[in-house]
Amino acid sequence: MKIGIFDSGLGGLIIAKAIRKAMPEYDYVYLGDTKRVPYGNRSHEAVYEYTKECVDYLFRKENCAIVIIACNTASARAGNEGRNEYLTPSPSPCKGEGRKILGVLIPAAEEAAKFERVGVLGTLGTVSSGTFPKEIKKINKKTIVFQNPAPMLVPLAEEGEIKNALPFIKKYLQPFANKKLDALVLGCTHYPIFKKEIRNILNVGVNPVRGRGSLRALAASNGIKVISQDEIIPKKLKEYFVKHPEISKKLSKGKTAKILVTDITQSVNILTKKWFGANTKPRLVNI
Ligand code: DGL
Repeated sequence: MKIGIFDSGLGGLIIAKAIRKAMPEYDYVYLGDTKRVPYGNRSHEAVYEYTKECVDYLFRKENCAIVIIACNTASARAGNEGRNEYLTPSPSPCKGEGRKILGVLIPAAEEAAKFERVGVLGTLGTVSSGTFPKEIKKINKKTIVFQNPAPMLVPLAEEGEIKNALPFIKKYLQPFANKKLDALVLGCTHYPIFKKEIRNILNVGVNPVRGRGSLRALAASNGIKVISQDEIIPKKLKEYFVKHPEISKKLSKGKTAKILVTDITQSVNILTKKWFGANTKPRLVNI
C-alpha cells in the first residue's frame, strides 16, 4: 500500500519531496486538486467536500494506507478544526479499515508552542478558522499568537513569481512589526517557496520598509525562528511510523512516486518538475 499526499494544488509537492527524501523506500502518490485551487478563500463546506473527494480517491483508487493532507486550509477547515492527534476523523468510506489521515497543521503548532510570541501566516481560510491559535494554545497556553492572511502568495507561488512576491511578503509581514515575535509559522504549504526571502526580511533586514520602521524592528530582533513544514513533517511522519507499526507495516517499498492532478496546464507541467523533480510527469485524473 502507498502513502498518499494531498494538496489543493502544487505547494504540497514541497512537503512531498521532503518526505520522500527522508523516506525514499516507500511508494508515494500525490494528488493536487489543480482544477479547484485555491481553497484558501472558499467556504468551510466547499473545502470539506473537495478534501473528502480527494482523500477518498487516494484511499479507493490508489490503495493508500495513509493520506497526509499537505494543505493547511484543508487541515484547518475540513478536519473538524484539527481535533485529535492530527487531522481526524477520516471522512473516507474506508474509515474502519485501519487507514489513517494526518494533517500538517498540528506538527507545526507543536513546534510553535515552544515559543512565547508567535506569528502565523496563512490563507484567509486557515486564519479565519482560528485553528492555529487554538491548537498552539492547547499545547502551551502561554504562547501569544498573532495571525495574518497572505492570500496573494499562493497564486504567486503557483506562477513561480518569487521575485515579484517581495512587496507582498513585506506587506504581509508588516502587521507583525513590533510584536516581538520569537517565531513565525509558514502556515501554508506554498509559503516554503518564499522561505529564503522571508528569512532574509525577518532576520537580515533586506530592504526594510522605509520610514515605518516596522520591518526594521523585526529585523533588529535576535533572530526569528521560521517554522516551515517541509522541515518538520518528514521527521514527525518518521516518528509516527515508528509509533504505529500497524500502518507502516502495510506500506510497500517500491521507491515509486506518482503525481496526479485534476487539471493539467503548462504551469502545472513546469511546476511539478521544478518542485518535485526534473523527471516528473503529472497525470490527469477525474475524481
Ligand atoms: N495549500 C494550501 C494551504 O496550505 C494553500 C493553497 C490554497 O489556497 O488552496 O493552505
